[in-house]
Amino acid sequence: MRISVIGTGYLGTTHAAGMAEFGHHVIGLDIDTERVAALNKGRAPIFEPNLDPMLERHTGSGQLRFTTDHTDIADWADVHFLCVNTPQSPSGAADLGQLRNVRDQLAPLLTRPTLIILKSTVPVGTAAQLRQEFRALAPAGDGVDLTVNPEFLREGHAVEDTLRPDRIVLGVEDERSLEVLDRVYAIPLSDDTPRVLTNFATAELIKNAANAFLATKISFINAMAQLCQATGGDVTELADAIGFDERIGRAFLNAGLGFGGGCFPKDIRSLAHSADEHGVEVLSNFIGSVERINDSQRTEVTELTVEHLGGDAAGKRIAVLGATFKPGTDDTRNSPALTVAEQLHSRGAEVRVYDPHARLSTRDNFSQAATAQDAVAGADIVLHLTEWPEFRSLDPAVLAPLVQSTIIIDARLKLNPHTWRAAGWTLIQPGRVDRTPAC
Ligand code: UDX
Repeated sequence: MRISVIGTGYLGTTHAAGMAEFGHHVIGLDIDTERVAALNKGRAPIFEPNLDPMLERHTGSGQLRFTTDHTDIADWADVHFLCVNTPQSPSGAADLGQLRNVRDQLAPLLTRPTLIILKSTVPVGTAAQLRQEFRALAPAGDGVDLTVNPEFLREGHAVEDTLRPDRIVLGVEDERSLEVLDRVYAIPLSDDTPRVLTNFATAELIKNAANAFLATKISFINAMAQLCQATGGDVTELADAIGFDERIGRAFLNAGLGFGGGCFPKDIRSLAHSADEHGVEVLSNFIGSVERINDSQRTEVTELTVEHLGGDAAGKRIAVLGATFKPGTDDTRNSPALTVAEQLHSRGAEVRVYDPHARLSTRDNFSQAATAQDAVAGADIVLHLTEWPEFRSLDPAVLAPLVQSTIIIDARLKLNPHTWRAAGWTLIQPGRVDRTPAC
């Protein structure tokens, strides 16, 4: 099939490459000329495992190319995937400006029957309105169909999640669309991937609910971590134990610094906004609690750090290990690690950050170290804030002579307490119990 993918961020780039991998002919479109030039050379705008080789292969064979020109895709493609960003606006609602731009540029060029597939995460009600607007603007009129097909890809696993999705959700309100969608997804459907067929509103809400539920699990276990800390309980053992119950499950019960990134924070805020708009305050209040717990995890670590610095962070040197919102990505959007670093900087501390992948912006108020050793040199305290695997293999005995003071806060609860304590470190894991035998 001939497929266009509009928007080449995380979602669009991976999706365009994935569609080519499924054997389709694909054109990706973006208004950013530099990005398009790099993509045509097989280079992704993001760090994502296994993406570059797939891009190189398909741009090399001519099966996949990228353009900035809407006329290039309008007549050529049978279906158009909308993968543009829907960022958070100041009110908390999703900003649909990029979707409206695509509508204004593309719709007047649609002269023959076409299927628009809405993949961007949107508030409930968007698809119904967008279909009406496309039909009103397109010369093909009612020949333009629309489908809601949310994505569930995780950064760091985007290629795998695209090629082997755990479900394909289709909000379909036109008979014609389904036959086209079955051809688009013929490969994963032939592997028995579950297909959920529903209406527009449900498909939009499925995506919102999936993110909100996962964020809720994280905030729940983090609130339990705070209670464990206050009472002498151990949150990791607690999570393991309740996770054995199949109705609960162990996934997304890792207590720590909470969630960040480009999706959860903005998507749950947008859901709360929709709930308010529709008079469902019980849901917006609920999500508000999830957000408050998440924010409090960051503040707790900042306060704990200051406490271990004798109550005053001014002039103290703080080493921060990790800057991305989670390991396996170079994304620092809404990163819990950087919030803590920023809060400590505003208390007068000198913060030095090391991350294996993130490049910090020059606007950031901290220096960036080239190695973990470089970051900890002369530090009054070390903070482990993003659980990159390389931090687990650091040798605490090698780091000890480099620091001013051997105190480390493991906010992600992933370091081995025995090896760190055996090397003379005071290791603090909020919500965990110290079981190191006294010597
Ligand atoms: C998420 C969803 O998983 C994905 O389905 C959706 O399409 C986009 O949003 P992503 O933002 O890549 O994907 O990150 P994810 O791996 O889900 O982690 C989100 C955040 O939660 C990270 O900051 C992570 O560190 C944190 N997290 C995750 C926890 O704090 N504890 C956990 O147990 C799991």
